[in-house]
Amino acid sequence: MRQKVVLVTGANGEIGHGLIRHLAKTTEANIVALDVVPLDKSLRPFCSTYIVGDILDQMLLGRLVVEHEIATIYHLASILSTKAEYNPETAHRINVEGTMNLLRLAVEQSQWQGTPVRFVYPSSIAAYGIPTLNEKTQAKAACEDEWGHPTTMYGCNKLYCEHLGRYYSSHYRQLAADCGGSETVDFRAIRFPGLISAETTPTGGTSDYGPEMLHAAAKGEDYNCFVRPDTTIPFMVMPDAIKALISLEAAPRNRLSQFVYNVTSFSLSAQEIFKIVLKAFPEAKIHFAVDECRQKIVDTWPERLDDSAACQDWDWKPDFDCERSFHEYLIPAIRERYQ
Ligand code: SER
Repeated sequence: MRQKVVLVTGANGEIGHGLIRHLAKTTEANIVALDVVPLDKSLRPFCSTYIVGDILDQMLLGRLVVEHEIATIYHLASILSTKAEYNPETAHRINVEGTMNLLRLAVEQSQWQGTPVRFVYPSSIAAYGIPTLNEKTQAKAACEDEWGHPTTMYGCNKLYCEHLGRYYSSHYRQLAADCGGSETVDFRAIRFPGLISAETTPTGGTSDYGPEMLHAAAKGEDYNCFVRPDTTIPFMVMPDAIKALISLEAAPRNRLSQFVYNVTSFSLSAQEIFKIVLKAFPEAKIHFAVDECRQKIVDTWPERLDDSAACQDWDWKPDFDCERSFHEYLIPAIRERYQ
């Protein structure tokens, strides 16, 4: 008998860390963790299997389904926005072809099992592209169907993969004779704002200045913030990001009116983050040294997200507002971590 499992790709990443711990604590799920590098030792006790491998490796994915019955996929593996710009074509392969491989696997699994496999996909604020800074500062909170012209490879990849998910869920092989008769994947995506975790630091994102400021200050390291002080985007702490993924996964399909949902918590300027960090760590050596290219990317991302669809369809509500995020979660946990 094959074992029923939850597959987590990109298991070693920031979201993977939080998600695997949470799933292990709150469910009986057998977790299969997949990542291109060996799984962090601290996560191994929580997983029934951990595999080092590439989501572009079809053989590996084929072997996965020989051994496991995959009920849910959290497809977290991705190359983030800054890193992707250094090799856009490679990023495209990993972000898009990798996602397509997993969607195909999910459709096949759904058909074998006779029930839809849930495919939970973290999309991003990077899927937005506001043409000018003036329009960004004037804009109301962005809805999912607005500003759909991202300027980064990562943003384009995320937006396109949202469409791929919708396609595989609703229109896959629509001309086939047996179309409509067999199960397809149940795709659900969340557009995250910048994420901040107390446990890990991000690698290769463009919203990284938020978490980097905080972690550098706690470690007593110098930090040059690469965006202007007035730069504003929404942020969310990792426990809320995990809550969002888990809640969307658990929501009954008939309540979901769309495939892609914004979630958000609080919006802050880099200057406001700087002030909070300085108050908590008065010795912090943080300066602003603007990187014009990365600045240009953040300038296309909305200041605020409209998450009313998520609130309505699956009762989304963050647990942490700005005050709680910094004073009850981030600052105490990060302080303890680097003590
Ligand atoms: N945090 C991501 C990045 O900066 C956005 O989703 O790339």
